[in-house]
Amino acid sequence: MRPSNRRGSIALLVLFLCSCAPQPQKEVPAEYKSGQKYFHQICSNCHNSDAMGGLTKAPKLIDGDYAPDGFSDGDIRDTVLNGTKKMPPQKGKLSEEQISEIIKYLRYSQKAAGLIPDEKSAEQDDDDEADGEEEDPAAKS
Ligand code: HEC
Repeated sequence: MRPSNRRGSIALLVLFLCSCAPQPQKEVPAEYKSGQKYFHQICSNCHNSDAMGGLTKAPKLIDGDYAPDGFSDGDIRDTVLNGTKKMPPQKGKLSEEQISEIIKYLRYSQKAAGLIPDEKSAEQDDDDEADGEEEDPAAKS
């Protein structure tokens, strides 16, 4: 057996022994834990731990591009069920309920990353959140 072949088999063996998806690095509140779990069973294989991307071509989802104003919950659900040109459909791996949990978890993570304004109630968004992510309650007296 050529040495390169042997290296191949060892790599394969390691892959077998370690068919574990990237694990979460972040703690989330209890209500998001099941979504986090499902995400790390199915999605983190491509989207990486905590949906931070960088592992494969699958993008970082904790990103303004995927915040609700540009990429709705329905869009996420549709992506998961039907895939895209580059992402294989995940239909059949997850129940509707599990997908909802994943969406909840992703939204939480986006919010924790400051990508979703606090007041995300549909219409009223008159607050001037435009300039800056920092809130300094002491500043406004
Ligand atoms: C086999 C790898 C793989 C798995 C598993 C996977 N994705 Fe993806 N995902 C991709 C790739 C690759 C893209 C980029 C697709 C594109 O640009 O068309 C993507 C894109 C996306 C997008 C953005 C789609 C868009 O139109 O920009 C979302 C949202 C997404 N994935 C969510 C998920 C969720 C949630 C899961 C788990 C249920 C998941 N993905 C599992 C590979 C994967």
